[in-house]
Amino acid sequence: MRILVIGATGHIGSVITADLESRGHEVLRASRGGEWTVDTTDPTSVRSLFERVGEVDAVVVASGSVPFAHLTELTRDDYLTAFTSKALSQIDVVRVALDHVRGGGSITVTSGVLAREPIATGAAGAVANGAVESFVVSAAAEAPRGIRINAVSPNVLENSPGHHALFAGQRPVTDAEIARTYALAVEGLGRGQVMKI
Ligand SMILES: NC(=O)c1ccc[n+]([C@@H]2O[C@H](COP(=O)([O-])OP(=O)(O)OC[C@H]3O[C@@H](n4cnc5c(N)ncnc54)[C@H](OP(=O)(O)O)[C@@H]3O)[C@@H](O)[C@H]2O)c1
Repeated sequence: MRILVIGATGHIGSVITADLESRGHEVLRASRGGEWTVDTTDPTSVRSLFERVGEVDAVVVASGSVPFAHLTELTRDDYLTAFTSKALSQIDVVRVALDHVRGGGSITVTSGVLAREPIATGAAGAVANGAVESFVVSAAAEAPRGIRINAVSPNVLENSPGHHALFAGQRPVTDAEIARTYALAVEGLGRGQVMKI
Protein backbone atom coordinates (compact mmCIF):
# COMPACT_ATOMS: atom_id res chain seq x y z
CA MET A 1 0.00 0.00 0.00
CA ARG A 2 0.97 3.66 -0.45
CA ILE A 3 0.58 5.19 3.03
CA LEU A 4 0.87 8.81 4.16
CA VAL A 5 1.97 9.14 7.80
CA ILE A 6 1.57 12.63 9.31
CA GLY A 7 3.69 13.16 12.42
CA ALA A 8 6.13 10.61 11.02
CA THR A 9 9.15 11.92 12.94
CA GLY A 10 7.56 11.73 16.40
CA HIS A 11 7.63 9.01 19.05
CA ILE A 12 4.58 7.23 17.67
CA GLY A 13 5.16 8.22 14.04
CA SER A 14 8.67 6.80 13.88
CA VAL A 15 7.48 3.46 15.28
CA ILE A 16 4.60 3.35 12.79
CA THR A 17 6.68 4.26 9.75
CA ALA A 18 9.43 1.75 10.54
CA ASP A 19 6.87 -1.01 11.08
CA LEU A 20 4.76 -0.24 7.99
CA GLU A 21 7.91 -0.18 5.83
CA SER A 22 9.06 -3.49 7.29
CA ARG A 23 5.65 -4.87 6.25
CA GLY A 24 6.37 -3.92 2.63
CA HIS A 25 4.39 -0.68 2.35
CA GLU A 26 5.52 2.52 0.66
CA VAL A 27 5.47 5.19 3.41
CA LEU A 28 5.34 8.96 2.79
CA ARG A 29 6.62 10.79 5.88
CA ALA A 30 4.93 14.13 6.64
CA SER A 31 5.46 16.71 9.39
CA ARG A 32 6.20 20.43 9.62
CA GLY A 33 9.90 19.84 9.05
CA GLY A 34 9.73 16.56 7.17
CA GLU A 35 10.14 15.20 3.69
CA TRP A 36 6.47 16.00 2.94
CA THR A 37 5.90 19.35 4.65
CA VAL A 38 2.57 20.10 6.29
CA ASP A 39 1.20 22.09 9.20
CA THR A 40 -2.00 20.30 10.21
CA THR A 41 -3.26 23.40 12.05
CA ASP A 42 -3.48 25.20 8.69
CA PRO A 43 -6.18 23.80 6.37
CA THR A 44 -4.50 25.38 3.31
CA SER A 45 -1.31 23.51 4.15
CA VAL A 46 -3.26 20.24 4.55
CA ARG A 47 -4.91 20.70 1.14
CA SER A 48 -1.53 21.51 -0.42
CA LEU A 49 0.01 18.34 1.04
CA PHE A 50 -2.69 16.12 -0.45
CA GLU A 51 -2.46 17.87 -3.83
CA ARG A 52 1.26 17.07 -3.89
CA VAL A 53 0.84 13.52 -2.59
CA GLY A 54 -2.04 12.52 -4.90
CA GLU A 55 -3.78 9.20 -4.29
CA VAL A 56 -2.96 6.97 -1.32
CA ASP A 57 -4.34 3.75 0.13
CA ALA A 58 -4.11 4.89 3.73
CA VAL A 59 -3.49 7.95 5.88
CA VAL A 60 -2.25 7.78 9.47
CA VAL A 61 -2.11 10.88 11.70
CA ALA A 62 0.04 10.87 14.84
CA SER A 63 0.52 14.57 15.55
CA GLY A 64 -1.03 17.23 17.75
CA SER A 65 -0.29 18.39 21.26
CA VAL A 66 -2.31 19.64 24.22
CA PRO A 67 -1.53 21.99 27.12
CA PHE A 68 -1.14 20.34 30.53
CA ALA A 69 -2.19 22.46 33.54
CA HIS A 70 -4.34 22.06 36.63
CA LEU A 71 -8.06 22.56 36.19
CA THR A 72 -8.04 25.81 38.16
CA GLU A 73 -5.26 27.16 35.95
CA LEU A 74 -6.45 26.10 32.50
CA THR A 75 -7.66 29.06 30.50
CA ARG A 76 -10.24 29.19 27.72
CA ASP A 77 -7.33 29.64 25.30
CA ASP A 78 -5.76 26.41 26.59
CA TYR A 79 -8.93 24.48 25.72
CA LEU A 80 -9.04 26.17 22.33
CA THR A 81 -5.40 25.27 21.71
CA ALA A 82 -6.01 21.65 22.68
CA PHE A 83 -9.03 21.43 20.40
CA THR A 84 -7.32 23.17 17.47
CA SER A 85 -3.99 21.37 17.71
CA LYS A 86 -5.23 17.86 18.33
CA ALA A 87 -8.89 17.54 17.30
CA LEU A 88 -9.66 20.10 14.59
CA SER A 89 -6.31 19.48 12.86
CA GLN A 90 -7.07 15.75 12.55
CA ILE A 91 -10.67 16.44 11.51
CA ASP A 92 -9.29 18.71 8.75
CA VAL A 93 -6.96 15.94 7.60
CA VAL A 94 -9.88 13.50 7.43
CA ARG A 95 -12.06 15.98 5.51
CA VAL A 96 -9.38 16.55 2.87
CA ALA A 97 -8.13 12.95 2.82
CA LEU A 98 -11.57 11.63 1.85
CA ASP A 99 -10.94 12.98 -1.67
CA HIS A 100 -7.50 11.37 -1.93
CA VAL A 101 -7.83 7.93 -0.31
CA ARG A 102 -8.65 5.12 -2.74
CA GLY A 103 -11.97 3.31 -2.35
CA GLY A 104 -11.75 0.74 0.44
CA GLY A 105 -8.73 2.51 1.94
CA SER A 106 -8.39 3.83 5.47
CA ILE A 107 -7.75 6.89 7.63
CA THR A 108 -6.40 6.41 11.15
CA VAL A 109 -6.21 9.25 13.67
CA THR A 110 -4.77 9.36 17.18
CA SER A 111 -6.52 10.21 20.45
CA GLY A 112 -5.24 9.02 23.84
CA VAL A 113 -5.96 7.64 27.28
CA LEU A 114 -7.04 11.03 28.65
CA ALA A 115 -10.39 10.50 26.92
CA ARG A 116 -11.16 7.77 29.49
CA GLU A 117 -8.80 8.15 32.46
CA PRO A 118 -8.32 11.27 34.59
CA ILE A 119 -4.88 12.57 35.49
CA ALA A 120 -3.96 15.82 37.22
CA THR A 121 -3.49 18.52 34.53
CA GLY A 122 -5.28 16.42 31.90
CA ALA A 123 -8.61 18.21 31.36
CA ALA A 124 -7.72 20.02 28.12
CA GLY A 125 -6.26 16.82 26.67
CA ALA A 126 -9.38 14.94 27.72
CA VAL A 127 -11.55 17.37 25.77
CA ALA A 128 -9.42 17.03 22.63
CA ASN A 129 -9.16 13.25 22.77
CA GLY A 130 -12.86 12.86 23.46
CA ALA A 131 -13.65 15.04 20.45
CA VAL A 132 -11.42 12.92 18.20
CA GLU A 133 -13.02 9.69 19.38
CA SER A 134 -16.60 10.95 19.02
CA PHE A 135 -15.83 12.30 15.56
CA VAL A 136 -14.47 8.95 14.40
CA VAL A 137 -17.57 7.02 15.44
CA SER A 138 -19.85 9.34 13.48
CA ALA A 139 -17.56 10.05 10.50
CA ALA A 140 -16.88 6.36 9.90
CA ALA A 141 -20.58 5.67 9.57
CA GLU A 142 -20.87 8.23 6.76
CA ALA A 143 -17.53 7.82 5.01
CA PRO A 144 -17.92 7.38 1.22
CA ARG A 145 -16.49 4.68 -1.09
CA GLY A 146 -15.96 2.14 1.69
CA ILE A 147 -13.22 4.22 3.31
CA ARG A 148 -12.58 3.05 6.86
CA ILE A 149 -11.95 5.62 9.62
CA ASN A 150 -10.59 4.58 13.04
CA ALA A 151 -8.78 6.09 16.02
CA VAL A 152 -5.94 4.58 18.00
CA SER A 153 -6.13 5.67 21.64
CA PRO A 154 -2.83 4.85 23.37
CA ASN A 155 -1.95 5.02 27.01
CA VAL A 156 1.32 6.82 27.83
CA LEU A 157 4.20 5.38 25.82
CA GLU A 158 6.93 3.35 27.50
CA ASN A 159 9.11 5.38 25.14
CA SER A 160 7.97 8.76 26.64
CA PRO A 161 9.45 8.54 30.18
CA GLY A 162 9.08 12.30 30.62
CA HIS A 163 5.31 11.75 30.99
CA HIS A 164 5.42 8.75 33.34
CA ALA A 165 5.17 10.68 36.62
CA LEU A 166 1.93 12.32 35.44
CA PHE A 167 0.51 8.94 34.45
CA ALA A 168 1.47 7.15 37.69
CA GLY A 169 -0.20 3.75 37.94
CA GLN A 170 -1.06 3.57 34.24
CA ARG A 171 0.36 0.76 32.11
CA PRO A 172 2.81 2.25 29.57
CA VAL A 173 2.45 1.02 25.99
CA THR A 174 5.37 -0.65 24.24
CA ASP A 175 6.56 0.22 20.73
CA ALA A 176 5.54 -3.29 19.65
CA GLU A 177 1.97 -2.69 20.78
CA ILE A 178 1.88 0.69 19.03
CA ALA A 179 3.14 -0.89 15.81
CA ARG A 180 0.70 -3.81 16.01
CA THR A 181 -2.34 -1.60 16.62
CA TYR A 182 -1.70 0.92 13.83
CA ALA A 183 -0.93 -1.97 11.45
CA LEU A 184 -4.28 -3.49 12.38
CA ALA A 185 -6.02 -0.17 11.74
CA VAL A 186 -4.38 0.07 8.29
CA GLU A 187 -4.53 -3.57 7.17
CA GLY A 188 -7.60 -4.81 9.06
CA LEU A 189 -11.30 -4.42 8.39
CA GLY A 190 -12.41 -2.32 11.36
CA ARG A 191 -14.30 0.92 10.90
CA GLY A 192 -15.50 3.45 13.46
CA GLN A 193 -13.36 1.81 16.10
CA VAL A 194 -11.53 3.48 18.97
CA MET A 195 -8.64 1.06 19.43
CA LYS A 196 -7.58 1.44 23.07
CA ILE A 197 -4.10 0.31 24.05
N1 LIG B 1 3.71 10.10 23.69
C1 LIG B 1 2.71 9.56 24.38
O1 LIG B 1 2.91 8.99 25.49
C2 LIG B 1 1.31 9.59 23.83
C3 LIG B 1 0.32 8.80 24.42
C4 LIG B 1 -0.97 8.84 23.93
C5 LIG B 1 -1.27 9.64 22.84
N2 LIG B 1 -0.29 10.42 22.29
C6 LIG B 1 -0.67 11.27 21.15
O2 LIG B 1 -0.04 10.78 19.98
C7 LIG B 1 0.25 11.87 19.11
C8 LIG B 1 1.73 11.83 18.78
O3 LIG B 1 2.45 11.84 20.01
P1 LIG B 1 4.05 11.71 20.03
O4 LIG B 1 4.44 11.51 21.45
O5 LIG B 1 4.49 10.75 18.97
O6 LIG B 1 4.42 13.21 19.62
P2 LIG B 1 5.84 13.80 19.22
O7 LIG B 1 6.94 12.86 19.54
O8 LIG B 1 5.87 15.19 19.77
O9 LIG B 1 5.75 13.89 17.61
C9 LIG B 1 4.82 14.71 16.98
C10 LIG B 1 4.95 14.54 15.49
O10 LIG B 1 4.00 15.38 14.85
C11 LIG B 1 4.66 16.38 14.06
N3 LIG B 1 3.87 17.61 14.24
C12 LIG B 1 3.70 18.33 15.36
N4 LIG B 1 2.89 19.38 15.12
C13 LIG B 1 2.55 19.29 13.80
C14 LIG B 1 1.74 20.10 12.95
N5 LIG B 1 1.11 21.19 13.39
N6 LIG B 1 1.62 19.72 11.66
C15 LIG B 1 2.25 18.62 11.19
N7 LIG B 1 3.01 17.82 11.96
C16 LIG B 1 3.17 18.16 13.24
C17 LIG B 1 6.09 16.46 14.62
O11 LIG B 1 7.05 16.86 13.66
P3 LIG B 1 7.37 18.44 13.39
O12 LIG B 1 7.69 19.04 14.73
O13 LIG B 1 8.52 18.39 12.40
O14 LIG B 1 6.14 19.00 12.77
C18 LIG B 1 6.31 14.98 14.93
O15 LIG B 1 6.58 14.27 13.74
C19 LIG B 1 -0.18 13.15 19.84
O16 LIG B 1 -1.49 13.46 19.42
C20 LIG B 1 -0.22 12.72 21.31
O17 LIG B 1 -1.13 13.46 22.07
C21 LIG B 1 0.99 10.40 22.73
